Amino acid sequence: MRNLDETTITDAVLARHEGQKSTRLGTIMTSLVRHLHAFAREVELTEAEWEAGIRFLTEAGNITDDKRQEFILLSDTLGLSMLVTAMASRKPQGCTEATVFGPFFVSDAPAYENGADVANGAPGKPCFVSGRIVGLDGQPVANAQIEVWQADEDGFYDVQYRDLASHRARGVLCSLSDGRYFFRTIVAEPYPIPHDGPVGKMLAALDRHPWRPAHLHFMITAPGYERLVTHVFREGDRYLDSDAVFGVRSSLIADWIEHPAGVAPDGTTLDEPFCTLAFDFVLNPAP
Ligand code: BEZ
Ligand code: FE
Repeated sequence: MRNLDETTITDAVLARHEGQKSTRLGTIMTSLVRHLHAFAREVELTEAEWEAGIRFLTEAGNITDDKRQEFILLSDTLGLSMLVTAMASRKPQGCTEATVFGPFFVSDAPAYENGADVANGAPGKPCFVSGRIVGLDGQPVANAQIEVWQADEDGFYDVQYRDLASHRARGVLCSLSDGRYFFRTIVAEPYPIPHDGPVGKMLAALDRHPWRPAHLHFMITAPGYERLVTHVFREGDRYLDSDAVFGVRSSLIADWIEHPAGVAPDGTTLDEPFCTLAFDFVLNPAP
């Protein structure tokens, strides 16, 4: 294959993958090459623009380590993460909807009893969260593992601090026999996704802000049910309609109800105002 030009190069590359035609890799790479070439043709990509793209990806690689994943941020801000999540979680009406996982989950979060304060010293206004885990048939799901994580009032997850002795504002709980769960934490606040790298520069160049509306992350697993990865978003947040990563679903928005200082749901008396949040999760039975 010689003398390839702009009209013959695409077919030549696809022909090189002919042997992979019936494999998943072949399907993905064939489509990727077709779309990539079509994109370059559509925008008449210049050599300088191609070089800028390579520089951008190189910077993304250079800033990525075990604490910072710039490629996931890129996928999130281009809506690819939410598209993949949406395709992977088609489920019957009535089930709690899924949304993006995000980069701040850790697998070694501390276990807590219901009623505990998962904030563990994270700064923020006190918040008491409660609800039930049920199946699509409305039956309680006992012993569901509930992982919860969130940013503090300054908009940072514990893993974004360098020198914390233990995890804060995250934990693992277990639903009770009637499906109930409850814990104390802090009020979720809006925060910007990390934007001091190439993805931040891209957002700025596109006149886009890096903010996510206030939310609480949940991952719920229980035998016999599909895993649910989702958030609860705070009603009234100014970024609900412009989430930097396109993750908001109306069914996931809830009221954080404000209360004056006084007796809290756990029976303690607080000398500062606090919030309560109630949210039930409906799990999809595993196929
Ligand atoms: C998050 O909600 O934790 C998150 C999601 C996508 C990008 C950055 C953060
Ligand atoms: Fe988050």
